[in-house]
Amino acid sequence: MASTGHAARTFSPASHDRLTPHDLGRFEGEALFDRLGRAVCQARCLPRKELFEAWETARRVRRRFRGGRVVDLGGGHGLLAHVLLLLDDSSPSALVVDRRPPPSAATLHETLVATWPRLRDRVTFLPEDMEHVGLFPADVVVAAHACGHLTDVVLARAVAAGAAVAVLPCCHDAQASDDGGLGGWMDSALAIDATRANRLRQAGYRIWTQHIPGTITPKNRLLLGRPLQAADEA
Ligand SMILES: C[S@@+](CC[C@H](N)C(=O)[O-])C[C@H]1O[C@@H](n2cnc3c(N)ncnc32)[C@H](O)[C@@H]1O
Repeated sequence: MASTGHAARTFSPASHDRLTPHDLGRFEGEALFDRLGRAVCQARCLPRKELFEAWETARRVRRRFRGGRVVDLGGGHGLLAHVLLLLDDSSPSALVVDRRPPPSAATLHETLVATWPRLRDRVTFLPEDMEHVGLFPADVVVAAHACGHLTDVVLARAVAAGAAVAVLPCCHDAQASDDGGLGGWMDSALAIDATRANRLRQAGYRIWTQHIPGTITPKNRLLLGRPLQAADEA
């Protein structure tokens, strides 16, 4: 699998600046990440940070979870869903759910389809509340930076369906999320994420706790889980 190598070393992956054709020289190689970077530059709509976050998250998710329908909750541009399909063609489709999808999501999608025609008709955008989406045990449910309590909703929905799940939480809200009473020992955001991980285990999941590089975002804790029986069989 390609790494973010050259591009990550020479300009900040944490920048909110949009990638444009001006940045094409940052993605010169033939690795998948470089081709993805070039496509995103042509779309002229994606904050640089989102490219690196989606890539680093997707790589880690695919090391654990193969196949399945991808469901990207609070998906925004839906880049994570697209990269998950690119990294594993055995996933038949992806559903990107966002209550208020950015208008440029369609632009990015068309650019990616033009580069990888095999993505055509495999990604659906649903402008809905994530609470209303049907989920199934074979799904791979992902959420990158589902703000605050939304990450708890994602985890609860995935557990109710018995689906594999991966979240990269952000904007922790001590009023809305359970810190498990751990707030006296560790910072509140870590206490909330530790409690989420433990809750997933208590629900009968095997879990994996990881990070994406902190140079991309300080909100870089990645929690993955899959029902124990499915994890044993994989
Ligand atoms: C911080 S953005 C993250 C977008 C994308 N996942 C990313 O990593 O760039 C959170 C997204 O969640 C969406 N959202 C907020 N509440 C939602 C809900 N209840 N159901 C579906 N989407 C929601 C917002 O519209 C926004 O696009």
